[in-house]
Amino acid sequence: MLMEMEKKEWIIEEINRLKREKNAVILAHNYQIPEVQDIADFIGDSLALSQEAAKTDADVIVFCGVHFMAETASIICPEKKVLIPDLKAGCSLAASINVEELREWKKEHPNAVVVSYVNTTADIKAESDYCCTSSNAVQVIKAIPEDREILFLPDMFLGAYVAKVTGRKIHIWPGECHVHAGIRPENIRKMREAHPEADMLIHPECGCTTSYMYYSACDPVENKNTYFLSTGGMISHAKRSRAKEFIVATEIGILHRLKKENPDKTFYPVSENAVCKFMKMITLEKVLNSLKEEVYEVKVPEEIAARARKSIERMLSLAN
Ligand code: 13P
Ligand code: SF4
Repeated sequence: MLMEMEKKEWIIEEINRLKREKNAVILAHNYQIPEVQDIADFIGDSLALSQEAAKTDADVIVFCGVHFMAETASIICPEKKVLIPDLKAGCSLAASINVEELREWKKEHPNAVVVSYVNTTADIKAESDYCCTSSNAVQVIKAIPEDREILFLPDMFLGAYVAKVTGRKIHIWPGECHVHAGIRPENIRKMREAHPEADMLIHPECGCTTSYMYYSACDPVENKNTYFLSTGGMISHAKRSRAKEFIVATEIGILHRLKKENPDKTFYPVSENAVCKFMKMITLEKVLNSLKEEVYEVKVPEEIAARARKSIERMLSLAN
């Protein structure tokens, strides 16, 4: 046990030493394991991480998240070295559409504006007009003229959510994230009964989103204190809210930060099974190896990056 603690301390020291030596920065997503969040220079949701990558003056970015996030950072800052500690850290949602499928879909709707969620590969972003994240999807849709047809991909629950909030008719790709799709209305109802005073925080990728929005609209009193938020939105809401208890419907990695930043409040996960195995692939050992060996570099061919950059920059300009 002592040996393990000493080893962990040594790894952290080495990470910090290499970070200084190489002018590196560690960016971590809110779902990362606690040890990785604790050594990060910045923790955030997809949008905040892209914004941080865009403004950092570091030479090396170690991206503790999944592959599409590191790819986005590399597209925004092609002059920097972007590293991901494990190349196998993918995303089931990003894998739910490929570029041939998108091209076919576009052919069926030649005049449509294509809005891609950030959970997509670079070649999908390159075929898109706008990129968006869960924290600005509504804002992005509202920026598109009312008379334009819209294709939204790849998450069907987030798509249904933005269609409902904006009142726009949107064609939605039937993709889903296996972690969030598994969070069902029954999970929410059970937790609501057990903690009636708690604020309910729901990520719009959840499988319960569509029906729960319907319940909330039908019975706003019964379903009060329900908020559809990105992971970054959940962090800000928990700090601001006067509630003492929160039910959290997203990947459980976020609980570490919620508890750490709000020690006087209580957080209940809607489902202990909401675990993203891709996010958990990044460990302290792999972060150290990444910094030491400068692996695994994520680089997008400039021809694709140049087109993808346009859709990401449109998103970032709307978020400022
Ligand atoms: P956020 O941008 O809300 O952090 O979501 C990213 C993600 O992958 C959710 O599964
Ligand atoms: Fe992708 Fe789902 Fe994991 Fe988020 S939680 S990174 S959407 S697989």
